[in-house]
Amino acid sequence: MKSAVALLVLLLCLCRTWAPTESRGVTENDITQLGDSKGGQIKRTEVESEVQGIEATHDQTSRQTNIWTELKELRDMAVEHRVELRNSKSKMEKLEQENTAQAAELSAIGARLTASEIENAVLEGRVSASEMEVEDLKRKNADRPKVAFSVGLTDAGQVGPFNTDITLKFSKVFTNIGQAYNPTTGIFTAPVRGVYYLRFTAWEERTLFWVGANLYHNDKRMTWNSDSNDDVGRVKMSNALALELQEGDVVYMLLPSGHGIWDDTYNRTTFSGFLVFPL
Ligand SMILES: *[C@@H]1O[C@H](CO)[C@@H](O)[C@H](O)[C@H]1NC(C)=O
Repeated sequence: MKSAVALLVLLLCLCRTWAPTESRGVTENDITQLGDSKGGQIKRTEVESEVQGIEATHDQTSRQTNIWTELKELRDMAVEHRVELRNSKSKMEKLEQENTAQAAELSAIGARLTASEIENAVLEGRVSASEMEVEDLKRKNADRPKVAFSVGLTDAGQVGPFNTDITLKFSKVFTNIGQAYNPTTGIFTAPVRGVYYLRFTAWEERTLFWVGANLYHNDKRMTWNSDSNDDVGRVKMSNALALELQEGDVVYMLLPSGHGIWDDTYNRTTFSGFLVFPL
């Protein structure tokens, strides 16, 4: 646009410079012709000068036409430039709008990213907390006391009756995880505070004998079990309890005085217990 305007101004200047030169040329010529005119020569000179004048006018007209054409072209160019400029401007505006939209999108993405980063951090925290919990549980599970025993009374057959109560020494050890049962004394000692499941089966095959086996917690009898084998058949009895024991509490079976009990290689009389869960 600027270059077009500059060109226009230059052309206008040139036009002004040319015009007076031409007119002056004609005027001088006329004067010269008039000054030199004498008699018959005057007419020829006049005609020549007229022809020259016409030619000059023609020249001038064609120059002006050229200038006008050029000016028109320049104007057209200027218009074209203006249109182009307007187009570029609208293109630029469109680009700016697109830019703004993209910036907004970017910032939205950024916000979303930040949110998911926070979420991620929270999840990571949770996962690491869970992992710690799992490790803690594993450790606790590993540290958890494992207690279970199953024992049989004897292979010797008859036991009792005696004049006093005696602790039954179950000497055949089937299972004794944690070594909480002592086969020498017949006493189970709770290694930790917890709930323990305890059960027994007692057998007698001698007729005319009372069979008995009572479960004790420390010095407290928990069950009284007695039956009389007054028939030809065998008698057997069983009982079970879930007991809350403190660490160091003891559980054992007592054979009451005047009662008998029987066991042999068939493992008929057994005593079992295990820790259900610590407290
Ligand atoms: C009694 O227990 C012992 C030791 O576990 C076993 O070898 C035996 O077979 C058992 N007796 C019977 C009759 O099952």
